Amino acid sequence: MTAATAVRLEGLTKTYGEGAIAQQVLKGVDLTLGAGSFTMLVGPSGSGKTTLLSILGCVLAPSTGRAFLFGEPIHGKRESQLPELRLSYIGFIFQGHNLLGSLSAEANVALPLELRGYSRRAAREEARAALEAVGLADKRDRSPEELSGGQRQRVAIARAVAGRPPLILADEPTASLDAENGMQVTQLLKRLCAERGHTALVVTHDNRIFHLADRIVRIEDGRLLDGDEP
Ligand SMILES: Nc1ncnc2c1ncn2[C@@H]1O[C@H](COP(=O)(O)OP(=O)(O)OP(=O)(O)O)[C@@H](O)[C@H]1O
Ligand SMILES: [Mg+2]
Repeated sequence: MTAATAVRLEGLTKTYGEGAIAQQVLKGVDLTLGAGSFTMLVGPSGSGKTTLLSILGCVLAPSTGRAFLFGEPIHGKRESQLPELRLSYIGFIFQGHNLLGSLSAEANVALPLELRGYSRRAAREEARAALEAVGLADKRDRSPEELSGGQRQRVAIARAVAGRPPLILADEPTASLDAENGMQVTQLLKRLCAERGHTALVVTHDNRIFHLADRIVRIEDGRLLDGDEP
């Protein structure tokens, strides 16, 4: 593994449940993502995309196999150790924007930074810079319901990239947007990742944005068809 490797998965499996109801959802996944790459993960419903993202995002522990983020193992950890890894390495963008309706755009972006140990003031400053980077400096005091769908998803992008976590994971970030907004949001995400040096893995069904990927990885029934051919 070189320093330029962002993600390395070796023989990764995930089984939900035990005994008679056990279901193996990831069946030996090998994957290497170079630092700074912008990769899309595509595959049928139920093939294991969200499960794989959840393991990379240090939300779920794998059952067997090895997983490294920037050389640091994230397998074999206790559940209580995962949040700290998640805060150090991951910015997550969800299908819905998952913003808190009671908070302003700026407070939504600042919140995870405060969880990472930023002072309130430093978090607000970084949040403002991130909102400016997504073109929403003038909307920072708005609550999510006062924003359009595309603007909300841009706030979600600002929240994910604020504090510069090295790995951005996005689970169908354009699913709730029309074609035009979906394209713009993905272009924005790609540009920010390139400018700020984030590695990104984007789950999508949206073939209108495939051309923006450096690489497309396909998953079917818990196995990657082309995981280790960077
Ligand atoms: N928490 C869970 N407990 C048990 N089974 C689960 C759990 N989460 C997902 N599964 C099962 O694992 C399989 C893969 O689910 P996953 O959410 O990873 O698929 P996906 O590729 O993201 O699908 P979609 O495109 O519909 O979002 C499915 O059969 C699903 O029912
Ligand atoms: Mg999913």
